[in-house]
Amino acid sequence: MTIPSKVRIFEVGARDGLQNEKQMVPTHIKVELIERLVDAGVTAIETGSFVSPKWVPQMADTAEVMAKIKRREGVTYAVLTPNIKGYEGAVAAEADEIEIFSAASETFNQRNINCSIAESLERFVPVTEAAKKAGIPYRASVSCALGSPFDEEINPKVVADVARKLYDMGAYEVSVADTIGVGTPIRTKKVIEAVAEVMPLEAVGVHFHDTYGQALANYLAALEMGVSKLDSSVAGLGGCPYAPGATGNVATEDVVYMLDGMGIESGIDLNKLVRTAWFISDYLGRAPVSSVARALKGKLD
Ligand code: HMG
Ligand code: MG
Repeated sequence: MTIPSKVRIFEVGARDGLQNEKQMVPTHIKVELIERLVDAGVTAIETGSFVSPKWVPQMADTAEVMAKIKRREGVTYAVLTPNIKGYEGAVAAEADEIEIFSAASETFNQRNINCSIAESLERFVPVTEAAKKAGIPYRASVSCALGSPFDEEINPKVVADVARKLYDMGAYEVSVADTIGVGTPIRTKKVIEAVAEVMPLEAVGVHFHDTYGQALANYLAALEMGVSKLDSSVAGLGGCPYAPGATGNVATEDVVYMLDGMGIESGIDLNKLVRTAWFISDYLGRAPVSSVARALKGKLD
């Protein structure tokens, strides 16, 4: 497999990123963040999640965010849905797409969505059936695919098994998620290999957090295998509230800089993206974790 010449970046900062912020980010800032990202060329974006507001208070205004953003043609505005109630919220908000999610770690799944892996897959049956009927596309992710925060070994076969089940349920893409950012390139390749044995590689995505600074190396490993669907988070925002120690996804700026350098098309304007990273970081009162955003500050066109 050769390195793809073009990739699709799924921007997750407004959901996976902000869900982890302790200070409540007002709706208008979320709306501006999403609109700036789209203006920078992002064509697939997670705008929030329809989860329990008791579990993740930061996402409680997702319906309002969805109602307020100016939709741009050709852009997919997606939300995360843990169950049928979340799906109903997504439909009411006219989300273009939903994301369902399970894990390769039983402990994580219990802590994250209060059920076993098997139960979560059952819970998604009515969601996917309803989405199919309504013609709403859905993608899926498998958390803890490269490691677990709960002192357990993750077997690539278990990742592949969950991925295959989600794919069989009709997910157009299944994302291999390194929730706590512990993966390294060889491990990444082994897990992707295992997943690609049970479903088409074209439908495999990657969602890497950067806790141990390995995410870019892991993306390169995935690109070398032909993977072309990458998730990332502007300014490196985020983490998962139910994965102790997890920090944000790799910064979208860092990924785009690497892709630009490799001549791989992402459709994203790095200058506008870096400005957006500083916009949200200034609001949050800290510098972006992205090396690229910091290096380019003051040097923007
Ligand atoms: P539960 O307590 O087992 O749910 O939580 P329940 O069905 O027993 O309902 C309890 C209450 O929650 C009820 O309200 C329901 O109406 C309400 P009450 O009667 O007590 O007032 N409820 C909801 N409210 C709003 N929206 C909903 C919803 N469902 C039930 N959809 C539940 C189960 C799944 C709801 C909960 O565990 C939850 O919301 N978890 C979400 C946790 C989350 O968002 N985690 C972060 C996202 S995953 C992630 O970041 C990983 C990812 O990025 C990939 C990676 O990096 O690995 C995707
Ligand atoms: Mg994540």
